[in-house]
Amino acid sequence: MLTTRSSFWGKSLLVFCIFMFFSLGSFEIEAATKKYQFNVEVKNVSRLCHAKPIVTVNGMYPGPTVYAREGDRVLINVTNHAQYNMSIHWHGLKQYANGWADGPAYITQCPIMTGNSYVYDFNITGQRGTLWWHAHILWLRATVYGAIVILPKQATPFPFPRPDGEQVIVFGEWWHADVEEVVKQGNALGLPPNMSDAHTINGKPGPLFPCSEKHTFSMEVEQGKKYLLRIVNAALNDELFFAIAGHNMTVVEIDAVYTKPFSTNALLIAPGQTTNVLVSANQAPGRYFMAVRPFQDVPIPVDNKTATAIFQYKNIPTTMIPTLPHLPLPNDTAFALSYNNKLRSLNTPNFPANVPLKVDRHLLFTVGLGKNVCPTCINGTRLSASLNNITFVMPKTGLLQAHYFNMKGVFNTDFPDKPPKAFNYTGAPLTANLFTTKGTRLSKIAFNSMVELVIQDTNLLSVESHPFHLHGFNFFVVGTGIGNFDPAKDPAKYNLVDPPERNTVGVPTGGWAAIRFRADNPGVWFFHCHLELHTGWGLKTAFVVEDGPGKDQAVRPPPKDLPSC
Ligand code: C2O
Repeated sequence: MLTTRSSFWGKSLLVFCIFMFFSLGSFEIEAATKKYQFNVEVKNVSRLCHAKPIVTVNGMYPGPTVYAREGDRVLINVTNHAQYNMSIHWHGLKQYANGWADGPAYITQCPIMTGNSYVYDFNITGQRGTLWWHAHILWLRATVYGAIVILPKQATPFPFPRPDGEQVIVFGEWWHADVEEVVKQGNALGLPPNMSDAHTINGKPGPLFPCSEKHTFSMEVEQGKKYLLRIVNAALNDELFFAIAGHNMTVVEIDAVYTKPFSTNALLIAPGQTTNVLVSANQAPGRYFMAVRPFQDVPIPVDNKTATAIFQYKNIPTTMIPTLPHLPLPNDTAFALSYNNKLRSLNTPNFPANVPLKVDRHLLFTVGLGKNVCPTCINGTRLSASLNNITFVMPKTGLLQAHYFNMKGVFNTDFPDKPPKAFNYTGAPLTANLFTTKGTRLSKIAFNSMVELVIQDTNLLSVESHPFHLHGFNFFVVGTGIGNFDPAKDPAKYNLVDPPERNTVGVPTGGWAAIRFRADNPGVWFFHCHLELHTGWGLKTAFVVEDGPGKDQAVRPPPKDLPSC
């Protein structure tokens, strides 16, 4: 018995050492290849006293963190053992000329069918920081998500004090019921599906929820040390406030771009966004709650429950009751606006902000909620959403294939540069004429042109804050404002020096955001609201960026194992 046991431990130790040797060893090499195997598989998981089967990667919830270094090539073989056809998106990675590895189903690829595999093969060029990955079909990202940590190149320090430790912190949402069933039910009625039952921090709702003793995330810290928190908002529908009791945070990076550091007692993070902060464990050793709760400044129902985790000083007994932080009130618009106004690109010689100064193409997209006829729905209508009054219709085949192989009849490139008619977008609520037009309509963009896109919220049904995400690019948020964008006056107030550079922007409630980017990445790139509810209702479109003249400026040929529809 004894021998069996010790040989078991001996073997485990050996395996562990080999693992450590390879995992540490691989970081010593410049431009390495990092390989991952992602098994998409169903697993029973219990939270809030309810167990249910969920779709996971490698049985983990949240899924594994992908570690790589700037300059690396990453190969991730995704094998789908779940009953759903599936694809995974590497949110925020630019995928230069390589949309095949981007992942949104029916945009850049057909889904990976049950039983099949596909290798996402990409290089990480000119990016470092925290990003994340998630399923990009149906609402499967509710449980299929994880962080991506891109370390700076070897011997390149962070542009901020070196932390003593770091921790990935991912926010999510949890439903008692099967999420796909919840969504089906909502769609059948034409109404929003039931909201989530809890928020989670690293998959755990924390001790303010029943049956959560085991389901509380805790991070151990030592007094006097500094920690880098890599925070991801993977929630489906909620913008979130986050704070740590008794501790300020210094924001140093957003969406894998360094920022000018600033100190704050709380942060705001929209679905799709990431934020890195430094925290000093400089308070009386104890136990402090970290907490998240939604920001929602219009009377739209939201899961307003607070999820918590513990910032645990070393050697403090777990019997000590932690204190809760002061989070901004759920409707604290002023906090949201002032927080977002503090975000600035670092803009140093090593990390310049290359803001497009002249614009070749001006776009204005209005965001609207609306209705479509649905005889079987509860009111005879189904809620929908639109950009420039167009509700996007998902194609039956990948748009990138259709573009690359010149297939006709899959999409049109006539998405309008401005709304069909101008109106007082953010005046009194508009409750008539809510019908939208439907279509798979895209904008065609000339290679290397400088694009300015103003995303304008409207009061069709209701104003609301929308986090918009662009695949394939980072953009600069050169301006935001409340009310209607004024092309005569607002551009004069743009920040063209150090605006925040990111991949997901929160368009303020009843306001607008102006973003600029250089269209230097050929391909078909999805652009959508990152609230899953709204994406599902059609709040999306895509850009077709044409090939450039150079031989490296054209969409690469598709990989051999690209799934077919
Ligand atoms: Cu994180 Cu198209 O999404």
